[in-house]
Amino acid sequence: MIKLAIIGGTGLTKLADLKIIKREALQTPYGSPSADFITGELSQKEVIFLARHGNPHTIPPHKINYRANIWGLKQLGVDRIIGVAAVGGITAAMAPAHIAIPDQIIDYSYGREHTFFDNDNSSTSHIDFTFPYSPILRAKLIIAADQAGITVTETGTYGCTQGPRLETIAEITRMEKDGCDLVGMTGMPEAALAKELGIDYASLSVIANWAAGKTEGEITMAEIEQNLQVGMAKVAELLKALMGDC
Ligand code: HPA
Repeated sequence: MIKLAIIGGTGLTKLADLKIIKREALQTPYGSPSADFITGELSQKEVIFLARHGNPHTIPPHKINYRANIWGLKQLGVDRIIGVAAVGGITAAMAPAHIAIPDQIIDYSYGREHTFFDNDNSSTSHIDFTFPYSPILRAKLIIAADQAGITVTETGTYGCTQGPRLETIAEITRMEKDGCDLVGMTGMPEAALAKELGIDYASLSVIANWAAGKTEGEITMAEIEQNLQVGMAKVAELLKALMGDC
């Protein structure tokens, strides 16, 4: 049986419809994961849930122990991970409260423990990252969105910044020129670490705000929270539809 995990981001520290079966506090060779791993049932199917920023939400993007999170999921036998993440929208289709399933990544983050292959004793391995997200899992998400009647943007390039601050207008202008459609702070190294361990990974990106300079004035937390509430309700419906097919 394929084991699916959901890593919840800002606005998704819990899955309301998850029937909790057990909680496990795992230790890994890379330290402590963000939170307990919760095994539960969603639409009568087993799924493992992890709150990326901890529960309650206290760990900023640059302090997340991405290696411990992904290693812990591997230890639990997970084959597929959906990473739910709040993002800013850069290009025209990426409006607040909308959902995107990106297909490419540009990594602008720095100083993060970003690989399992940094031990002198391990053989060096260069994973192929041509397609950073699993095409199979992305296709399943697109079908699930259709079944749930939720409009999603089916492609897009996710630019991962270091955070925790939001960007300047000049940074977003540069990212747009680079080809980024979305900007977030947690997409990397999460996606690459999953690939290093042979786990299929896809992102459900929930647009919380227009990125810096894409609307008048500054970005407010109130606006982010309001859009995330709408977007995360869509994510919950989409995930329930997905479970039928996993
Ligand atoms: N930039 C980076 N990360 C984000 C944003 C943003 O505008 N909104 C939500 N996460």
